[in-house]
Parts: sequence; C-alpha cells; structure tokens
Amino acid sequence: MVLGRIAIFTDDPGWHGKQLKFAFDLRGYSAEYVSLTACKLVIDGYSLPIVIPGFEQQLPAAVFVRGVPGGTLEEVVFYLDILHALKIMGVPVYNDAYAIEKSVDKGMTSFLLQHAGLPTPVTWEVRDRNEALAIVAEELALGRMVMSKPLFGSQGEGIRRIEKMTDILWLTSSRGIYYLQRFVACAGVGFSDVRVFVINGQAVAAMRRRGLSWLNNVSRGAFCEAIAVDIDMAALAIKATLALKMDYAGVDILQDQLGNYTIIEVNSIPAWKGLQSVCEVNVAQLMVDDLLTRYLGSPNVEKMKQSA
Ligand SMILES: Nc1ncnc2c1ncn2[C@@H]1O[C@H](COP(=O)(O)OP(=O)(O)O)[C@@H](O)[C@H]1O
Ligand SMILES: [Mg+2]
Repeated sequence: MVLGRIAIFTDDPGWHGKQLKFAFDLRGYSAEYVSLTACKLVIDGYSLPIVIPGFEQQLPAAVFVRGVPGGTLEEVVFYLDILHALKIMGVPVYNDAYAIEKSVDKGMTSFLLQHAGLPTPVTWEVRDRNEALAIVAEELALGRMVMSKPLFGSQGEGIRRIEKMTDILWLTSSRGIYYLQRFVACAGVGFSDVRVFVINGQAVAAMRRRGLSWLNNVSRGAFCEAIAVDIDMAALAIKATLALKMDYAGVDILQDQLGNYTIIEVNSIPAWKGLQSVCEVNVAQLMVDDLLTRYLGSPNVEKMKQSA
C-alpha cells in the first residue's frame, strides 16, 4: 500500500530525481516527476484550483521542489504562484516559494544575510550603469577586484571578475540590474570554499570545493573533498538557512585570508551529487525523512530507520 503520493517538481529528473524517488519509495511513498510548466490554475469555483498532471483528482501529499524553470518574469511568477498556492491549500512545499524567491534573487539574499547580522561580502545592487561603473572604478583604485553576477544565476554561469580598468568594458547588467560584489581572496593554497548542507537546522554534511580558478562550483570542475565542518562554520550555515526560512539548503562559505568566514550564497535548490560522492550520510534520504516526519507526521520513518 502506498502511504501517499509526492510530486517532485523538475524538468530534468536525472540522478537527483532518482535519488529522491528511491528515498520516498523506501518509506512507502510514491513520487512522480512533474514540470511546473505543465501545471495550471483553474479558478472556476468547483474543480481543484491547482491542476498538476497526474494529481487532477487529489493534490499531492507534499511536493519536493527540485527545479524551477527560468523564463520571463511572468513565467517565473506563475511557477512561484503554483508553489504559493499549494502551501495555501495545505500541501507541504519543500523548500517553499518564499525560501526559493529569496535565495534565487542574489540581491535579496545579500540583504537578508546582512540584516540577520551574518557576514557576507560587501555588495551593491544598482540600476544605473554610470553608478555601477563608478563603484567598480573606485574598488579597482583601492586595489580590490569586483565580482559581477547575474541576479538569478547559478552554477557559476555569467559571473565575471573585474580585475583591472580595461575589464570594465565587460561589465554587463543582468537585464538592467547590476549586482556587484567585492572579491574576497580565500585562505590557503589555490581557490576553495566550503559547501555546508543544512537540513532542518542541522549541518548534516560538508565538503571543501577546490576550484580550477576563482569559481568553486562543482559544475565548473571544482574538486570535492570531505571535511568535518567546524562548529563556527556550522553555526553560520544554520543561521543563514534560518534567515531565509529554508527547510534545507546548500550554504557556500568562504574563509578569507584573515581567517574570517563569509557567506557567499545560500542555495534553496542545491545539487548534492558532488557532496554525496564524498560524504557518509545519504543526503536524499535525510531530506525525504525530514519532509515526511515534520510535515506529514509519518510514523514509518523512525520505525524503518531502526529496523534498517
Ligand atoms: N565575493 C566573492 N569573493 C570570492 N569568490 C566569490 C565571490 N562570489 C562568488 N565567488 C566564487 O564564485 C562561485 C560562484 O558564486 P555564487 O555567488 O555562489 O554564484 P552561483 O549561484 O552561480 O553559484 C562561488 O562558489 C565562489 O567560489
Ligand atoms: Mg554558488
């Protein structure tokens, strides 16, 4: 007997989708992949207002958000509306639309981190090109480098490091908005930062990512090394997920040359293939178990863990 049906929102299930499906299966839940692009809102007063393919008769017991497709502002708002609406209808959304909205937008992430009193690099978000140019010129004159990032980017895409005045020609906005951040040189040899994986306020795994250059994304060829996360770093990662109200997150923390930690990013839809290759715990199972116990009160999880 299936205990419940879960929707995994994704357009590209791949390895991560399989890991989740398997973890749900193991606990007696069936999981199906659905694209947010195929969902609808039908406001007619008698049918279910949220139409999810495969769940037309009954909404899923919970949804796991593995991917929100890009698109026009209207498209993205629509996808987030579906997630908001599901939560309003009482369906647990893991991570919910609030968390996704805040973390997909790098400007808002920076603001919320700083607002929560957490260390994060000096950042500017501006509309005016001349102002952006002036900020970069001033930083360069002070001997600093500046990262220019797409507001909604991920996996290191579109990030530039402005190192000298001639690089200023490369300064492009992210659809009209400039997101600029002071470059923080990291401690140690070469380039590296730490990815801390937090689930329900606990740092469950961590790895050092050693980049081929100043980009430490695994998708850009960074090497993963298992590390034991120290208590200060874990505390910081946990506070970051609390500030952004996330069920789980991949938090990127860089140690500067003075030894201080600074939070670079908080991912609400993090990949964990690289991390899984070097850590002991089963990341997908930990997330699935957290979702099932906290949101669906599934008694099965503890029982099954004990008998495993
Ligand atoms: N301010 C910074 N100082 C130093 N390195 C940075 C800074 N911002 C980003 N990086 C490097 O670039 C990588 C990608 O940046 P990030 O903001 O996480 O964007 P993305 O969402 O594309 O992963 C980081 O993991 C880090 O290695
Ligand atoms: Mg990142």
